[in-house]
Amino acid sequence: MKIRSVRGTHDIFGEEIDKFKRISDIVSKNAYLKTFKEIQTPIFEFSDLFAKPLGEQSDVVLKEMYSFEDRNNEFLTLRPEYTTPMIRAAITNNLLNDLPLKIFGIGPMFRRERPQKGRYRQFNQINFEILGTKDFLADVELIFLSNNILKELLPKSNIKLYINSLGDKNTLLDFKISLSKYFNTHKKKLSEESIKKINTNPLRILDSKNEEDIEISKSSPKIYEYLTDEAKKHYEDIKRSLNLLEINFEENPNLVRGLDYYCNTVFEYKSDNLGSQDTLLGGGRYDGLIKVLGGPDIPGIGWAAGIERIILLMESEKKIKSTVHIAVTNVKFADYYLNLKKYLSENRISYYWNFKYNLKKSFTKASASSASHVIIIGDNEFNGNFFTIKDLMTGEQKELKLNQIFNYLNDKSR
Ligand code: HAM
Repeated sequence: MKIRSVRGTHDIFGEEIDKFKRISDIVSKNAYLKTFKEIQTPIFEFSDLFAKPLGEQSDVVLKEMYSFEDRNNEFLTLRPEYTTPMIRAAITNNLLNDLPLKIFGIGPMFRRERPQKGRYRQFNQINFEILGTKDFLADVELIFLSNNILKELLPKSNIKLYINSLGDKNTLLDFKISLSKYFNTHKKKLSEESIKKINTNPLRILDSKNEEDIEISKSSPKIYEYLTDEAKKHYEDIKRSLNLLEINFEENPNLVRGLDYYCNTVFEYKSDNLGSQDTLLGGGRYDGLIKVLGGPDIPGIGWAAGIERIILLMESEKKIKSTVHIAVTNVKFADYYLNLKKYLSENRISYYWNFKYNLKKSFTKASASSASHVIIIGDNEFNGNFFTIKDLMTGEQKELKLNQIFNYLNDKSR
């Protein structure tokens, strides 16, 4: 019997797992620098946590949740996103006493979507949230953080940040009503998929990819006309700050996001190199959501990025394939050896030393191992402030300064 993996799932190994680990390292480093605390929540929750807050008419709730009834007749769902579980965890564990609460998490999510490049049924997200502040500077901090992380992970990729404001909940309600009215008058030209959304979820028609829908949306009512003065100021403050921080962005009045809990600021990063699944990261404000989930009436904002989509854009890390055996001829060179060891570690070059001050024994050991080179530390090297490096394959021997070793080994790895 040959058992297949489940459609839309994938195994992560080899170069992909190296990239996965690099992503978690860089995310954690940035998170700790900015004092976000890590949280891990269970991968399943009561279904009620998702159904209403994400929007009963959202695609995720309508079509994509993995929900089941367990033996106690309780309805459970594999988490399709991380924001609601994180808020639930903050409420359950009384973490909302000291605000704002800055939290992050990395882990698998589950959505029963049609699998394709960059779209899986089990995928991994990086997720950041700030709970308990309305300040526009929290929005700016999160966008700044996402920008830093993506820049560090994808220095050469062409990624674009899009932003929009959806206004407060009342504004959004009024806006949805006028959108429904508008789309009803243009019903004939809309795609079948969009017609279904006219009265239930008209916002989603705005980000339809259908050509005719796009054409009709061009003349639809615009959210800016509905924003309150307060919401306008919040949005203007964010744009001014992004300019100040030299973060490039484009405003997209049709950016609405796929989940119902958003209000005010929304943002997304997209890349042209991802095919149709081009959104790498998305997020926004969700003032009101924490109350809906049974917590205090405090605002919140966050974002999530798909790890698999980042991996698709990541270049392979330059890796030194060589393994180096160190041969130290005398204990008096201990400090000189430590200096070399520090350099090799910093440059991620694997090395080994058998703690025997004997050149011959070191070479025998190196030849019996998988080492590609031996670096010798003896009187000549110490006195001349260099290292002798011998290629065990070719027998070639070179005298190098410490800072030349990486390039020498890197050239050989190509
Ligand atoms: P989302 O836009 O649904 O937002 O997902 C965020 C990111 O997860 C997407 O931009 C994409 O990179 C990745 N993603 C989503 N679905 C899939 C899939 N089927 N396969 C691979 N990657 C996928 C949220 O989930 C919100 N909770 C974000 C948020 C946090 N808003 C506020 N705080």
